[in-house]
Amino acid sequence: MSSEKYDRLKILDHRHLWHPFTQMRSWMRDDPVIIERGEGNYLIDVNGRRYLDGVSSLWCNVHGHRKLELDRALTEQAGRIAHSTMLGLSNVAATELGAELIAIAPAGLSRVFYSDSGAESVEVAIRIAAQFFQLTGAPSRTRFLTLAESYHGDTIGAVSLGFSEPFHRHLRGLVFPALKTEPPHIFRFHRQMTPEAATRTALDAAARVIDQHRDTLAALVIEPLMQGAAGMWAHDAEFSRGVAELARAAGALVIADEVATGFGRTGAMFACERAALAPDLMCLGKGITGGYLPLAATLTTEKIFEVFLGEPHEYRAFYYGHTYTGNPLASAVARANLALFRDEKIIERIQPRVAQLTAGLRARFAGLPYVADIRQHGLMAGIELMADPKRRIAFPSARAVGHRIIMRAREAGVIIRPLGDVIILMPPLSIDEAELELLMDTVCAATREILEREPSSELMR
Ligand SMILES: Cc1ncc(COP(=O)(O)O)c(C=O)c1O
Repeated sequence: MSSEKYDRLKILDHRHLWHPFTQMRSWMRDDPVIIERGEGNYLIDVNGRRYLDGVSSLWCNVHGHRKLELDRALTEQAGRIAHSTMLGLSNVAATELGAELIAIAPAGLSRVFYSDSGAESVEVAIRIAAQFFQLTGAPSRTRFLTLAESYHGDTIGAVSLGFSEPFHRHLRGLVFPALKTEPPHIFRFHRQMTPEAATRTALDAAARVIDQHRDTLAALVIEPLMQGAAGMWAHDAEFSRGVAELARAAGALVIADEVATGFGRTGAMFACERAALAPDLMCLGKGITGGYLPLAATLTTEKIFEVFLGEPHEYRAFYYGHTYTGNPLASAVARANLALFRDEKIIERIQPRVAQLTAGLRARFAGLPYVADIRQHGLMAGIELMADPKRRIAFPSARAVGHRIIMRAREAGVIIRPLGDVIILMPPLSIDEAELELLMDTVCAATREILEREPSSELMR
């Protein structure tokens, strides 16, 4: 993997960059793949090598790369204006987009607050919820309930919700403690209950925590149907809806974090639709621009919005914002993204791909001795690998099984990214039948190569 251009860029990368979620010492020992272009569902590196984008460029790409309509929306908007502020002004693209988002959002949501990343959309939601209760005479409602191992982003507020000991222990002194409840996955997978019993037990557990904190709970924050970054921890619609009803009955708000699940990912436009969940606040990011530009949005109801109204001297306004809030370029691309969902009937069109993924994963992976679980909602799936699935014994983390599998897949021309030893498949919604076969074949071959060609004693060490 070498050319003069590549070598130069590699030196610059290793000398100046600091990559997210990356141990840079290991990074600097390796040859990075440096992407230069994209074409449909493929990424192309500076040496001209093509890779199938099996994780949608971190779960955000929807229609593939260089999608004509999105490219056009971007350049047309650039021909008008790239950016103007939303503080004291409005802009055409963000205004039109706001109305279009509300038109497709779950019933009851009527207001859009923009930000730039998924984490910020969550930050906005928890700050709206906290201020809502300060303004409505319930100042003790300051606590947030989240699911164990949930992930809501990487600002300090979002980390407080999704605190994880290995990643965040250095931040312990900075975060606020969130309340936790165990989702069905823990009861089904780790405690080997039936799915029905797991849902019931998880709802009982949530009811107990909510009851204990019923006077201080501000909001439940939930990734509906699928806790993505936890390792694709799936639960059913009944749990999403049930836990939301429990929170609401205790006087708390319900925040649906659809940053990962939104925009068709679970097979419906929003996971809330599949769960028949009507949130008070909904967080959107990632796929909102088809995976083109950083844009996020927090949607909420008129009831919540109205509480913030008052005279300037009353200081009820929502004092929050970023420089690029409601950026016109991103908003214009997001509008074109929504138009594609409508014109190309994306939700209808992906249904055969969803079924293909279900059948294809089962055919290739079910029954392999190290496959502990296959979890999927729509076009988001995780294959959990373990040294001893029956006894729930993980591979020693030093063996880096997940990492080695994805590196093997990369050699074969497929980019994926694991979460520990859970292999994640999250292709663009535009993936076609043959590309999906290729993705599953390559990942299966890579998995078998790493796990079947090595002596098992090696793997267990
Ligand atoms: C459910 C969920 N919420 C929030 C985020 C954070 O989004 P961002 O990385 O855009 O800040 C993510 C990112 O993976 C996510 O999966």
